[in-house]
Amino acid sequence: MCGIVGYIGNGNGVEFLIDGLNSLEYRGYDSCGIAGISDEDVRVIKTVGRIKNLEELTPEDLVFNVGIGHTRWATHGGVNVVNSHPHQSASSRFTLVHNGVIENFQELKDRFFKGHNFVSETDTEVIVQLIELFAQDGLTTKEAFLKAISKLQGSYALCLLDKEDADTLYVAKNKSPLLIGLGSECNYVGSDALAMIKYTNKFLEINDGEIVIVKANSVDIEDKEGNLVSRNPFTPNIKYGEIDKGVYDHYMIKEINEQAFAMRNIISKYFDGKNVSMDEEIINNIKDADRLYIIGCGTSYNAGLVGKNYFEKWVRIPTEVHLASEFAYNMPILSKKPMFIFLSQSGETADLRAVLTKVREINSDYKFLVLTNVDASTLSRECDYTLLLHAGVEIAVASTKAYTSQIAVLSILAYEVANRLGYKLKLDIEKELSVVTNAIESILDDAKNIKVLADKLFTERNAFYIGRGVDYYSACEAALKLKEVSYIQTEGFAGGELKHGTIALIEEDTPVVALITNTKLDLNTRGNISEVASRGANTLVITLEKLAREGDYAIPNVNEELAPIVSIVVTQLFAYYAATGRGLDVDKPRNLAKAVTVE
Ligand code: M6R
Repeated sequence: MCGIVGYIGNGNGVEFLIDGLNSLEYRGYDSCGIAGISDEDVRVIKTVGRIKNLEELTPEDLVFNVGIGHTRWATHGGVNVVNSHPHQSASSRFTLVHNGVIENFQELKDRFFKGHNFVSETDTEVIVQLIELFAQDGLTTKEAFLKAISKLQGSYALCLLDKEDADTLYVAKNKSPLLIGLGSECNYVGSDALAMIKYTNKFLEINDGEIVIVKANSVDIEDKEGNLVSRNPFTPNIKYGEIDKGVYDHYMIKEINEQAFAMRNIISKYFDGKNVSMDEEIINNIKDADRLYIIGCGTSYNAGLVGKNYFEKWVRIPTEVHLASEFAYNMPILSKKPMFIFLSQSGETADLRAVLTKVREINSDYKFLVLTNVDASTLSRECDYTLLLHAGVEIAVASTKAYTSQIAVLSILAYEVANRLGYKLKLDIEKELSVVTNAIESILDDAKNIKVLADKLFTERNAFYIGRGVDYYSACEAALKLKEVSYIQTEGFAGGELKHGTIALIEEDTPVVALITNTKLDLNTRGNISEVASRGANTLVITLEKLAREGDYAIPNVNEELAPIVSIVVTQLFAYYAATGRGLDVDKPRNLAKAVTVE
C-alpha cells in the first residue's frame, strides 16, 4: 500500500519521479504528490486522484536535482490534498514520504507535541515533526532521523529531504518494502524495482533497521549500530518492456491472455527433460513434514484451497489452508513437524509477514516456503525457500495469471513429492499441464462469445457462483474476481449449502453460475442449479465438454484435478467484461491496491 520514490543526481529527477509513481500507482491511487529542491527552496505539488492529475499540475520546466514522491492508499485521515504526501515539518525544512503505518503516532503526538496543531490527520506527519524537533535540539539530520526512527512502532519505508542539505536523501525501512536503484551520476529510491526498471537494472536491498544515506555518487548503508554495510547489487528478472500494456486496453485482459504463455514458462522452468527440477531441500522438507499449512490472502488463499487437494490426494499429507490475517492472531494448534507454504503473488503482503514473525517466535526452526511471482521480494528474502511463479509481471490489481500459475506450481510440487514417496500417480503432470495450456488458449480464442454471455448474465446488483468439491474453491475465486472489478455483490457458494440459507436471496433473474469439473459431482451440482432455476435465477453451467448439456458453456476436456486452472479463465473474462461494460477502471478498482503492505 502506497508507493514511494526518490531521486538524487546531476540530472533532472522530475521525469523519474512521475514515471516511478506511474509504475507504483497499482499500490494505491487515491492521491499523490512530489517534492524537490528547486532554486534553493522546496517545492511541493500534491493532488487528489491519479498521477495524471499530478502530471497536469507539474510545470514542464520544473527541475529537481533531488526529489521525492508518493502515491497514497489512505490509512489515517481522509482522501484530500492535506493528508496526501509529501509531508513537511513546521518550518518546511524537512519533507518526508512514508509507506506503512505508525502504530504509536498518537502517543508520540501526546508526548512530544502536546497542544500543537498538526496540519494533517496522518500518522506520517508526526515523524517529520519529530525529526525537526530533534534537529532543533542540535542533532545533525542523520542523528535526528535516527532518533525519530527509534521512537516509531509499526511499519515504515521513509525517504527524507532536508532543505539545508540538497546533496542527500535519508532513507530507512521497517517491514515495508524499499529498494535503492543505482544510476550513473544519480541514484534512485523506490518501493519496488518496477518503479525504477526504466532507469536502471542494478538494485540494492535494504534490511529492516538499516538507514541509507543516498547521494548522487554514493550510497552508504548503515546497520543499527552505525557500521557501514557492504552489499552487492542485484539485477531482477524483469525488463522494462514487460510492464507495457502493448496492444491491450487494460492490464487485466493482457494478463488473462498471458496465461497460456505463463503455463509454458512454468513447464520449461520446472521440468528438466521428463524430470521435475526443484530444490531438493524443498521436496525433503515437505516429505518429512507431518502437516502442511498453506497460507495466503484473497486470490492466493483461493489458490491454496485448490492446492490442498493435490497434497491430500497425491501426497496423502494432512493440509490446512488458512487466511493469513486470521492465522497470525488465531493460530490453530500446530502439529509436531509442520511445514509452511506461503502463497503471495507480490511477495510483500503484510498479513503473511505477520504470520512469519509469530510462527518464528514459537519455533525458529520451522521452515517456510513461499510461492511468489516477484524475485527478491520481501517474503522471498525472509522465507527459507522460494518457488517462483514465472508468470511475468502482474500489474492489474485483480490477480489472474498469478492464480493459475500458483495452482500449476503447487500441482508440480505435490506431484514430485508424491513421486519421491513412491506413490504411483496415474498422470503425467507435464503432459497434462500442456493439455491445460491448449485448453486455456481455446477459451481465450472464444472471448467474443464469453463477452456475449457476460453481457446477458451480469445485469443485476448481485450474482452467485456455485460448485462442489474443488469447484467450490473455484466459485470463491470467480466471485472474488467479479466483485472486486465490477462491484457486483457476488458470493461463491458450496452448491449444497444454498438451501441452508442463501437460496432465500434468489429472485427473478439473479445470475447463478455453476462450475462443474468433477464427474462424480455433476448431478449434485446440476440439482442445485435446477433448484435456483425453479425460483427464477438466470443460470449458466461451465463444465467440461464431456459433461456438457445444451445451454452449458463447455471448456475443453482436461485432467479433472487440473481443471480449476482452465474453468477459472472463463470467469476471469466474465469479470473483465462485466467491469468494462459498466465503464469501470478495471485495472485499478476502487479502494484496492495491488500489494497490501499494511496489516
Ligand atoms: O500479493 P498477494 O498474492 O499476497 O496478494 C494477496 C491478495 O491481496 C490478492 O490476491 C487480492 O485478493 C487480489 N486483489 C485478488 O485479485
